[in-house]
Amino acid sequence: MADRQGQFITFEGVEGSGKTTQARLLVERLQADGRTVVQTREPGGTATGEYIRDILQHGRSGETLCAEAELLLFSASRAQLVTQVIRPALQRGEWVVCDRFFDSTTAYQAYGHGFDVDKVEIIHGFAVGATVPRRTFLLDIAVPESLRRMQRRNAEQKTAPDRFEREEIAFHEKVHAGYHALARRDPRRIRVIDATCPANEIADRIWEELEDVRTCTG
Ligand SMILES: Nc1ncnc2c1ncn2[C@@H]1O[C@H](COP(=O)(O)OP(=O)(O)OP(=O)(O)O)[C@@H](O)[C@H]1O
Ligand SMILES: [Mg+2]
Repeated sequence: MADRQGQFITFEGVEGSGKTTQARLLVERLQADGRTVVQTREPGGTATGEYIRDILQHGRSGETLCAEAELLLFSASRAQLVTQVIRPALQRGEWVVCDRFFDSTTAYQAYGHGFDVDKVEIIHGFAVGATVPRRTFLLDIAVPESLRRMQRRNAEQKTAPDRFEREEIAFHEKVHAGYHALARRDPRRIRVIDATCPANEIADRIWEELEDVRTCTG
């Protein structure tokens, strides 16, 4: 049925902005609405990607990963995820909800670490081809509040901060500003959502912002 076509939706934002929470709430709503949904995350989402995630987040090798290798590992994980999971699901007419995608690499590696944005976007094009998100939600929260949430979560779950969480505040501020620069460049795809209100209110807002995509026939 043409009006039940699947769509590719991604969630972005700094650490602790609520991406995983909102991805889960959106999947539940889509399923309640009768859609078949594939939920996935980056880096990871495939067996290869989970190995890469482990290297990226915990520095298993004991070596400092150079910034170029880091960018290419994220991109390798993404290419595998697109080929193995995302593109086949969309071809089956299913929805795909992904927790982080290529905007994370642009925000962290280009705006955060200073790589040239245009060059990084060429790598994205090579990794994903035409599989670009139909809509991206940028969950917007100030950096100090995001760090407070992360500390609370690590304390509750007794987890240690990963490599990215341990970065300086100045780095997280650059990432935050980078995300906003991306949203200004592509406002049709990237919608900035105030992520400081209660989770259910944010989910309502996201559902409204998807109205045109949900009823889309092509
Ligand atoms: N709207 C909200 N208001 C207050 N706290 C929230 C809200 N949404 C999520 N949280 C809490 O903030 C913490 C981070 O949320 P979540 O894990 O969804 O963020 P994330 O963006 O996926 O983080 P990460 O970048 O580390 O994956 C969790 O403890 C979660 O329960
Ligand atoms: Mg998360």
